[in-house]
Order: sequence, then structure tokens, then C-alpha cells
Amino acid sequence: MERPTTRPTTPTTSRPDGLEDRFTRTVAADERIEPRDWMPDGYRATLLRQIAQHAHSEIIGMQPEANWITRAPSLRRKAILIAKVQDEAGHGLYLYSAAETLGASRDELLDGLHSGRHKYSSIFNYPTLTWADVGAIGWLVDGAAITNQVPLCRCSYGPYARAMTRICKEESFHQRQGYESLYALSHGTPAQRAMAQDAVDRWWWPSLMMFGPPDDESPRTAQSMAWKIKRHTNDELRQRFVDICVPQAEALGLTLPDPELRWNEERGHHDFGPIDWAEFRAVLRGDGPCNEQRIGLRRAAHAEGAWVREAAAAYAGKHGLAA
Ligand SMILES: [Fe+2]
Ligand SMILES: [Fe+2]
Repeated sequence: MERPTTRPTTPTTSRPDGLEDRFTRTVAADERIEPRDWMPDGYRATLLRQIAQHAHSEIIGMQPEANWITRAPSLRRKAILIAKVQDEAGHGLYLYSAAETLGASRDELLDGLHSGRHKYSSIFNYPTLTWADVGAIGWLVDGAAITNQVPLCRCSYGPYARAMTRICKEESFHQRQGYESLYALSHGTPAQRAMAQDAVDRWWWPSLMMFGPPDDESPRTAQSMAWKIKRHTNDELRQRFVDICVPQAEALGLTLPDPELRWNEERGHHDFGPIDWAEFRAVLRGDGPCNEQRIGLRRAAHAEGAWVREAAAAYAGKHGLAA
């Protein structure tokens, strides 16, 4: 979810020491930029913003699903859900570590989240009202995340690309478990089927918003693609996701809540109805159903964990380790 706040930065002057040429050649050859390599300030800032936002989304995303751990309908479902929520914590950890290689400290990153300076994916500001929401999140939200993130495994920045390789493997497990859970509901009793349909009705449009604003309102995309941070535009990825979901919804026996959704023979893609970008902007601004609750819980969790950080620092000091 990118929010245009600054203009894309384009290196205009060539550095006499050849470092910039080396950067440009490395990116052009599809090789990786590593933390110690010279990089343009704009490249560093773009990556830092994107990786931090991604890390924050992983850990805030734990909350809506953790809401159902104590009420999972069986031991098997509970074990799967706990594993998934733990995976998301791990994703946050890999990504904070990747962001740290760009020169930001963990404290600065978390402060960015807690103070509201940094964004996280707006999808996690929607509530999880029923058990079927856990399935719908796995299928649609993790599915959208994979569509977005598979191309990031080829991102030009090494630590981010490597983190994404592992994250994508785990996200595909998340997507499959969500699909399987929804399938059980949609082939269950009439009440279970209705619950699955209601969850899909509520999560479909916010999932499409996960790809960010339309291309003509995403001024950073061109520069990010030139730097090979991004490989596809928001609208390309959104279209890919819609095309993947339509046959999956048919197999589930559920309807996607869009009367304009239909196959376009000429384009070789599905057409779909207009997205409510006013809702997207409102949720991004902080006016979503759960924004305050999510950030409030995160700040409280951070405060409650202070003793762990203090104990770790004291231990490190005592043993001459770097804190
Ligand atoms: Fe994740
Ligand atoms: Fe996930």
C-alpha cells in the first residue's frame, strides 16, 4: 500500500568515483544490491519506507486472526491458526531485520508505527466478525499478499529479496489453509455456507485495495520499477489476482460480490467493477473500523514487553555482548 507523499527521486548527476555507474550496472544486470554497496538516497528511502510498512503490516496483521484462536472450532483448526499467527510474527522479524540493514534502528522503526508516522496495510483495520473471516483472510488477504510478494523475491535489494523468498513459501501455506477452511464451510450446513459467503462479501473489495491506488495515482511506481524494487504495477497485480480468484470462487461454490465481474475475451482478463477509493483513503487516514483498536493494542503490547528488552540489554551488558 503506497501513499504518495514525495516525488520519485531520479539520480541526475553521475558520481565521479564510478559508484553510481556500478549501482546502475548491477541493477541492469538483475544482480543484487547489498547493504554495504553504494546506493542512491532515494533508493534507500524508498526501500526503507516499503520494507517498514511491510513489517508493520505483518505484526498488525496478527491481531484480527489472533482474535479467533480461543474460539477455533477444533483442535486442528486452532493448531493451524496458532502456527499461522506465529508465522506472521516471524515475517515481521525478517522484515525489520532487512530494514535495519538500510540504517534504521528497530526502535526508530517501531516508533514510526506507534506514533502513526508509518503506515501499515489498511486491510487489517477491518474486523473479524465470524470464524469464516479466518478462512476468507487466508484465501483472499494472504492470496493478495502472495500475488504482490512473489515478484519481490526478485527485488534488486538482496536482504529484502531473500526475506521474501521464505515469506512467500509460508504465505502459500496460509492461502491454502484459508481456502481449505472456507471450502469446508461452503460445503457444510446452510448456516456455515451463509457465513462463508458473508465473509467473502466483506473481504473481497478490501483485498483488491491491498494492491494500492490505481497506476495513474501511484507516482512512485515508475521509479520503483526502474530500480527493480517493483516488477509490476499495482493495476497489473490486481488484475492477476482477480483472474486467479474467479475460478477458485467457482470451486468454492461462493459468489464474488461484484455484478460487473465477467470474462473479457478480447483482453484475455476478467473485467471488474469500480473500487471505492474513498473508503480506501478513509481507512488509510485512520477512519477504518479498527484503526484505533489495532494501534492501541500494539502500543500496549510494546509497553508490556519493556521488561524483556531491559532484561536482554542487561544480560548483553553483563556478558559484553552488543545490546
Ligand atoms: Fe505474512
Ligand atoms: Fe500470511
